[in-house]
Amino acid sequence: MTSEELKKKYLEFFKSKGHAIIPSASLIPENDPTVLFTTAGMHPLVPYLMGGSHPEGTRITDVQKCIRTSDIDEVGDSWHLTFFEMLGNWSLGDYFKKEAIEWSWEFLTSNNWLGLDPKRISVSVFSGDENNNIPFDQEAYDIWKSIGMPPERIYRYDKKENWWGPAGKTGPCGPDTEMYYDSGKAECANCTTEGPACDCGKFAEIWNNVFMQYNKTAEGKFEELSQKNVDTGMGVERTVAILNGQKNTYDTDLFEEIIKKIKELATNSNQTSERIIADHLRAATFILGDEKGISPSNLDQGYVLRRLIRRAIRHGKIIGITKPFSFIIAEVIIQKYKDDYNELQKNKDFIIEQLVQEEEKFSKTLARGLKEFEKISEHDVTGHDAFILFTTYGLPIEIVKDLAKENDISVDEKNFEIELKKHQNLSRTATAGKFKGGLADHSEETTRLHTTNHLTLQALRTVLGDHVNQKGSNITKDRLRFDFSHDKKMTPEEIQKVEDIVNEQINNKLDVSFEEMSVEEAKEKNAIGVFEHKYADKVKVYKMGDFSLEICGGPHVKNTGELGHFKITKEESSSAGVRRIKAVLQ
Ligand code: ALA
Repeated sequence: MTSEELKKKYLEFFKSKGHAIIPSASLIPENDPTVLFTTAGMHPLVPYLMGGSHPEGTRITDVQKCIRTSDIDEVGDSWHLTFFEMLGNWSLGDYFKKEAIEWSWEFLTSNNWLGLDPKRISVSVFSGDENNNIPFDQEAYDIWKSIGMPPERIYRYDKKENWWGPAGKTGPCGPDTEMYYDSGKAECANCTTEGPACDCGKFAEIWNNVFMQYNKTAEGKFEELSQKNVDTGMGVERTVAILNGQKNTYDTDLFEEIIKKIKELATNSNQTSERIIADHLRAATFILGDEKGISPSNLDQGYVLRRLIRRAIRHGKIIGITKPFSFIIAEVIIQKYKDDYNELQKNKDFIIEQLVQEEEKFSKTLARGLKEFEKISEHDVTGHDAFILFTTYGLPIEIVKDLAKENDISVDEKNFEIELKKHQNLSRTATAGKFKGGLADHSEETTRLHTTNHLTLQALRTVLGDHVNQKGSNITKDRLRFDFSHDKKMTPEEIQKVEDIVNEQINNKLDVSFEEMSVEEAKEKNAIGVFEHKYADKVKVYKMGDFSLEICGGPHVKNTGELGHFKITKEESSSAGVRRIKAVLQ
């Protein structure tokens, strides 16, 4: 089965169970200050898991593009990836454990769908958490038994294995039930965990059904959510491999052409390097191809992007690639994915141009950096060494770690992070934490700034013209940052005008309301926002008086009178053709 067939079957199956198919959201979360990338299918759905109404109803399914960099050191083995696609189905206060489990079972084992051998599937359920007064998941256990799962293949695991979320400090979370597929390999001799959760390779986890019934509060309490949700996740790459009896994700159709091209360009072979290049450039291509126009830098998403590209380039050197190659691989990646993700085709020039530039820049410092590393490699690498290797010689921490491993010395990563953070300017980073992912908290401040975003976009269009579109947004509780398409620096007069218009609309005390409608209707009404995707049927459109009409998931304040005084604190370039402003409410 190809990846395309799997995705199609999954969406078709859940459509037949009354789910609406929605498009993949951006890789860069909207209005979520705690996280750099979308790390799971549930991420863009947080407002709806918390009780907000979704325009497509209470049953949703999709294929979401995700970036998870927490396992970046493991990339190169059989399964770990930094970019992956996640199949998911959601109940937003609709069905719960019974339907979720029965449908998972039907999809996995029915000959109309995946047709996996039921005897090779084991499952796990949550064993309970006394400290937080959360009981053993008897209900999930009973449902599995009732559909014929032998009790000895229903494992009970604790929080470490069978609890999901919140990805950050607060947000929706709950016990889960996981499904594992037996590869047929012999039991490993030194299993550390009893049952299928052992990562010896005998079993592969293929699906996770999370029963999101709690909200973790800032005080660390687990409160019952007002609605019971289901959040599921099935990794496309891994499932395709399993369905085809392949032993790793790089043998699947998703990587076939990419690996072939890498081998063609190389003069010697090294499996780990080939895999790192394939994975990292795939992630980089998707980040660059996202509508938000992220480019390599030393901060936030741009910093992650830079690290991915540079590490891929260095591994290119290891396998003897001497000419610029990252853009050649990107072309293969775009070709493979462009039908499902048309933003890759649309932003192809930007992707190629950025890769070429970054590779050029890095090639200039790489040789010097390697020489410098040699000098210091007589001893373990201190945090300060690693910091200098990055800031002066352009070697990201992953490369320093790779080099250290090759030389059998260690790297003081902790002190590197500390120095880097100081350098990046304390207020702007939290990189290490954000790197691992987190979830939105829709506190009052961020909601107010989010409403201000809409007023700002409309004011910018009024002052600068209708070519202005949102290219990115990041909100902390103190300020908003807004990127938009415009190719000139704004004049002080223009900035003043935008401020005046926004403040006027605040003083006008506009009511904020939303309506759900089809994409066609939204277009007819001249709402602004992203229309592009082939799947989106219904959207939420927020209206602020007669001033602003914009497609958006919310949440927002009820009246613009709640916002306070608007002030732009900075205007600068973000990337080619994109300006960035920062603004506060006083
Ligand atoms: N959110 C769950 C996961 O990512 C389904 O595994």
